[in-house]
Amino acid sequence: MASGRVLVLGGGGREHAIAWKLAAEAGVDEVVVAPGSGGIGDEPGVRVLREVELLDPASVVAAALASGADLVVVGPEAPLAAGVADALEGAGVAVFGPSRAAARLETSKAFCHAVAEAAGVPMARSRAFAGGEAGAALGWIRELDAEGLRAVLKADGLAAGKGVVVCESLEQALELAPSFLVGRSADQPALVVEERLEGREASVIAICDGDDAVALPAARDHKRLCDGDLGPNTGGMGAYSPLPDLDDRAVEAIVESVHRPLLAEMARRGTPFRGFLYAGLMLTAAGPRLLECNVRLGDPEAQVILPRVAGDLAGLLFAAAHGDLATMGRRAVAASGEAAVGIVLAARGYPGDPRRGDPIDGIEAARSQGALVFHAGTVKRPAGGFGTNGGRVLAVVGRGPSLADARRAAERAADAISWDGVERRHDIAAELPEPAHLVGAAR
Ligand SMILES: Nc1ncnc2c1ncn2[C@@H]1O[C@H](COP(=O)(O)OP(=O)(O)O)[C@@H](O)[C@H]1O
Ligand SMILES: [Mg+2]
Repeated sequence: MASGRVLVLGGGGREHAIAWKLAAEAGVDEVVVAPGSGGIGDEPGVRVLREVELLDPASVVAAALASGADLVVVGPEAPLAAGVADALEGAGVAVFGPSRAAARLETSKAFCHAVAEAAGVPMARSRAFAGGEAGAALGWIRELDAEGLRAVLKADGLAAGKGVVVCESLEQALELAPSFLVGRSADQPALVVEERLEGREASVIAICDGDDAVALPAARDHKRLCDGDLGPNTGGMGAYSPLPDLDDRAVEAIVESVHRPLLAEMARRGTPFRGFLYAGLMLTAAGPRLLECNVRLGDPEAQVILPRVAGDLAGLLFAAAHGDLATMGRRAVAASGEAAVGIVLAARGYPGDPRRGDPIDGIEAARSQGALVFHAGTVKRPAGGFGTNGGRVLAVVGRGPSLADARRAAERAADAISWDGVERRHDIAAELPEPAHLVGAAR
């Protein structure tokens, strides 16, 4: 793409980061974000197109044609599961994001396990159960227990981060497992039961074009609401990149041993995967294990990964959308030497029912320190400025030569922003693992 217009679908912090990155690139004339948000629309070179129904493929095609987009980048998973990429491709619009069939890697955990097994990609040992198979599920949980292993229960299907229970005891697993199968049909898996793995997690995401993959810098997110990884699970309260325990060579080794085999198996099945392929990994003593696939960038991982992409992102996405990634001659994006730490500011009540409408102070003060502020749940106030309008409201990203510097910058910028009821963690990237090389360990 010599130059062109990119349509980004979505309106959260991840999409703000994508739009911010693309709008700054020489090869991009304009970024249109649909439906976007007030905060995203204020970004230089970014225009918001409100009138779009993201889960309606026809509405998305109409928006793409009306905006004259040369490329559509799909942010969240739900439109992909609804077949938006298929419809765009059918209408002759270049799209970066998987077909509905390929998005099953995220929308069905049982499918992901089946593909990974066929591809020789190590995951937690698991079995899938359909309605009526509660007895078999309990039997498998007892088998794991006999080996001294706890169970993880996962609902099959999109659950917005609320479908997984990491069990602390045999009793808990036995008690909860049947509830996943109540009222479910006998012909489809409804529950995946996995062995519980131990280790640190990492997110390794690659730009994929169906058979080739280019690695993005690795990141780690913090899912629990409160400091010390306590409290309820959320969409993510912060993230950092790079990872001291996963250097560039280790990231490339993971793309080689996880992403590329998955791509090959998806292509063999006639459903090639094009888009961001996100491998959620557990770095175990025996090597990395795939916990799940997502079919898009993570949020808030995107907010710390994209500021570290030094080169041109639009060119890679455009090439990938056309199946030409190999012509770019890269195995990994060029990453800046800077580290990035992102802190999510949430509204009181999150992850339950968040309070809305509180005026936000200090966004410009944070930016004037050099921090990036990405909008997730904000609304423009008639009197000027922004108000809270969602659970996760902002992501504040600090950068610096080291993770410690980036963390200090992020903390200082987050301190500059306030509203009545703001909640955040104070320990994002506070405890860093020792550097360790895991090259080749995925085999
Ligand atoms: N086999 C496992 N062993 C230990 N923890 C796990 C396992 N699978 C998932 N988890 C934990 O549960 C979280 C959510 O699981 P994941 O498969 O990523 O589902 P989702 O993101 O759809 O909720 C993971 O980030 C991880 O912390
Ligand atoms: Mg996950």
